[in-house]
Amino acid sequence: MHRDIERVLFSEDAIRARVTELGASITEDLSGQDVVLLALLKGSVIFFADLMRSVSSQIRVDFAWVSSYGDRTESRGTVDLKVFPDEDLGGKTVVVVDDILDTGRTLAAVVERLRQDQGVAAVKTCVLLDKAARRVIDLGADYVGFEVDDVFVVGYGLDHADRYRNLPYIGVLKADCYGGDEAS
Ligand code: IMP
Ligand code: MG
Repeated sequence: MHRDIERVLFSEDAIRARVTELGASITEDLSGQDVVLLALLKGSVIFFADLMRSVSSQIRVDFAWVSSYGDRTESRGTVDLKVFPDEDLGGKTVVVVDDILDTGRTLAAVVERLRQDQGVAAVKTCVLLDKAARRVIDLGADYVGFEVDDVFVVGYGLDHADRYRNLPYIGVLKADCYGGDEAS
């Protein structure tokens, strides 16, 4: 285990099993629809790569780059949509895929942006982790991998200050690894 990790919450095996189930649910629920899986960068990349291979119906993929956190563990409260798909999403069922649903601001901003595109047939949401205790916007995801308590987690795409994304498991970051970073 990495020395900055206090404990492992979800092992590689546990994640793999759950992601397979999520992919099967998406396949079953959305079959026959024109589906675009939309990855929110950067945090969802690893989850996304595994999830898309667990979906067996025909889908397309696209990417959006959204930022709300910076180097801190507290949300800034504003969401910056840096890059958004410029393909025509008319008639598509867009499944927004993110690593973690925390305050809800990121997902809410992306969903709202997609709903402004009149032509989008449906918007669904899929997150690997749901930290419900921290929600400030009343929003749930259609597909959730695991619920997590109010702890700061890293690995499997999740970062702190852009680090730890490459850990193959999800673990709780030791408090002394981010204490000095907190917003003043
Ligand atoms: P929200 O907008 O507050 O829901 O935050 C969503 C974003 O915050 C996620 O896409 C993550 O990048 C980041 N985030 C929230 N909680 C954690 C965590 O425990 N570890 C790492 N990143 C987190
Ligand atoms: Mg992040």
